Amino acid sequence: MIDYKYFSRRYKNILITGGLGFIGSNFIFRLLKNTTSNIFNIDKLSFKKNKLSLDNQFKTISTSRYKFCKIDISEKNEIGNIFDIANPDIVFHFAAESHVDRSIDSPENFIKSNINGTFNLLEESLLHYRNLTPQRKEIFKFQHVSTDEVFGSLGVEGYFNENSNYLPTSPYSASKASSDHLVKAWFHTFKLPILMTNCSNNYGPRQFPDKLIPKIITSAINNQPISIYGNGLNIRDWLYVEDHINALLTVAIKGISGFQYCIGGDNEKSNINLCKDICNLLDEIYPKDKSYKSLIKFVDDRPGHDFRYSIDSTLIKNELKWQPIYTYQKAIQDTINWYLNNLDWVDYIKKENGYDGQRLGDFQL
Ligand code: DAU
Repeated sequence: MIDYKYFSRRYKNILITGGLGFIGSNFIFRLLKNTTSNIFNIDKLSFKKNKLSLDNQFKTISTSRYKFCKIDISEKNEIGNIFDIANPDIVFHFAAESHVDRSIDSPENFIKSNINGTFNLLEESLLHYRNLTPQRKEIFKFQHVSTDEVFGSLGVEGYFNENSNYLPTSPYSASKASSDHLVKAWFHTFKLPILMTNCSNNYGPRQFPDKLIPKIITSAINNQPISIYGNGLNIRDWLYVEDHINALLTVAIKGISGFQYCIGGDNEKSNINLCKDICNLLDEIYPKDKSYKSLIKFVDDRPGHDFRYSIDSTLIKNELKWQPIYTYQKAIQDTINWYLNNLDWVDYIKKENGYDGQRLGDFQL
């Protein structure tokens, strides 16, 4: 159970980076619904580009507590006086380029956003922290949202945890690993109070349709081939975004400064089995003349494709009393329903971002 009253008292002003993205926007909805904190969201997308991400639901709960500013954190001069305006008690750093395939196609943006962007934010956070009163210094946190991919790839056995070695394999995971190292360095060297989390694969509403689950759903309902890379036997540990948000809030409330917490879904699936699950559910709730499974197409593998990710969340479970509470069966059904009810959102996002559902399967190195 999240103590929202305590959270709101402790963190009156919150700065969020990347709050128009998938996890960030769901996180903002949660805060607006349950806390009284002031929220300042900076994102390099504009509302116009992503207006349907903070969708109709947002209109019904938007309040004067929420402010948005279009800022690219990789441009130091754009961050400017944001810390003076937002005056945060905590920073939740979601902003990142996050799609592995895109990092293979064009790595430069990943270096800029994930490494330079994090560096710029750390610099500004430290300046801000040093000017806080002693009471506010006690509270202030820089909470970095990271990924299990920084630990590389697992074989059929074993799990990642906080003691795993960093062994990133893709430009994306290497850039996130770099950002993790920067955050840790700012804690050790400059005593900036940080918290860090490394999560497994998220799913849920508002995930961009270049990631596996929304791509399966949107390809299926548009009657397009569902591309599965390689033999489909790669394994991911799927975490529902609402469980992830519970974990992030738990860490913000109970986490120990300087600590890193791994967050997993206890829900391993091979890509092909996940894909068949979704097709079976769609066959039930949105039937067409043929099973959606007939659209599955095995395509060339992703270069350097990590075989398996899986997280052992013992630390956060035992020390902070968090655990995933949503069942996969219910959460995947809710996710599918969300996409079926928001097809205009999918079309809009695809158009604005120039997605061609099939393009990312064709690798040219
Ligand atoms: O582990 C957390 C990470 O999970 C996050 O940090 C990343 O931001 C996120 O993109 C995700 O990385 P993955 O590469 O695992 O996610 P993606 O949805 O791209 O792919 C999931 C699996 O599905 C992976 O084994 C590749 C495969 N795949 C993906 C796509 C888009 C396919 O077989 N076909 C596809 O069309």
